[in-house]
Amino acid sequence: MQFFIDTANLAEIGAAHQMGVLAGVTTNPSLIAKIVDDPAAFTWQMFKDHISQICQIVDGPVSAEVTALDADGMIAEGEELAEIAENVVIKCPVTMEGLKAITYFDSQDIATNATLVFSANQALLAANAGASYVSPFVGRLDDVSSDGMALVKQIVTMFKNYDYMPEVIVASIRHPQHVIDAAMVGADIATIPYSVIRQLLSHPLTDQGVKKFTEDAAIMKK
Ligand code: E4P
Repeated sequence: MQFFIDTANLAEIGAAHQMGVLAGVTTNPSLIAKIVDDPAAFTWQMFKDHISQICQIVDGPVSAEVTALDADGMIAEGEELAEIAENVVIKCPVTMEGLKAITYFDSQDIATNATLVFSANQALLAANAGASYVSPFVGRLDDVSSDGMALVKQIVTMFKNYDYMPEVIVASIRHPQHVIDAAMVGADIATIPYSVIRQLLSHPLTDQGVKKFTEDAAIMKK
């Protein structure tokens, strides 16, 4: 299972990249809003420049989300975003209009990430429309007392049954157990907030071991 980072924060992306574990990046308008100092002054061009900066750090797929609600608008935005770099993936919601846009982008060989997937049928529709990735949101489902990972398992199984092409990105990850569960059910990718990537690394026995080895190594004179 590959690791993507779920953030628009350049420092976080750079840090995860340096760890050598980063295969891609996902962003969404809420993640972009977090890194903007002055929302009133933030322009479409600034958004594109930011996506470009991310693409300069990471070679792998970088999802940039369209915000128009109609297919024509999504297509216009997506075409501009796709020009930024070869690794830009156009993120479209699984709405009627989003499926139309995904179908168009597929015809143009432009990669897409079908986002806001909350049901197996939405994933099937996105696959048939030609999405390159589908993103089931596990945390948001868990938040409303549904079983997010059960949905991921359904989607992975269905795609394997029929050799559907989209890769499954487990999104809306909240904690390290989500990452383990995503790998156990055979998801292709987990997109993980930086704070959770740090948690994956953390273990008190590792910290204790490093401390003790460092103390014991101090007996050596150099
Ligand atoms: C990524 O593609 C999604 O937009 C993101 O994981 C959503 O996460 P959230 O539910 O924590 O906002």
